[in-house]
Amino acid sequence: MLETKRRVIGQMIVCQGCCCGATHKDRPEVPADWLKDEWRKRGLLKRFQLTVSGCVGPCDVPNVVVVNSESGSQWLGSITQFNQYRSLVEWAVHSVDAGHLLELPREFKGHRLEPWR
Ligand code: FES
Repeated sequence: MLETKRRVIGQMIVCQGCCCGATHKDRPEVPADWLKDEWRKRGLLKRFQLTVSGCVGPCDVPNVVVVNSESGSQWLGSITQFNQYRSLVEWAVHSVDAGHLLELPREFKGHRLEPWR
């Protein structure tokens, strides 16, 4: 098995594709630049991977966020409010401080998404 020196506690994939963040199609904005700035300012870069991605699939529930870690993937849909992104940043900071992914904040419970058949 290959080993990487860039091991992280998790990865947050923020979709910004044909639908997520497509404000020209009246879809909710994805604050990608703000997220990247926060990730850098809050010292998350080397410990929690942030990936702004093209379409990840479930376009009918924009905006989609996927959280990956050694324990699997958690998919979230309809992340439409700036405050939700702010909560995800705070959760990422607390997770990095704890050294492992904490449970997602309760406010995301109704946003869980199952993309698999
Ligand atoms: S553009 Fe985000 S799921 Fe397709």
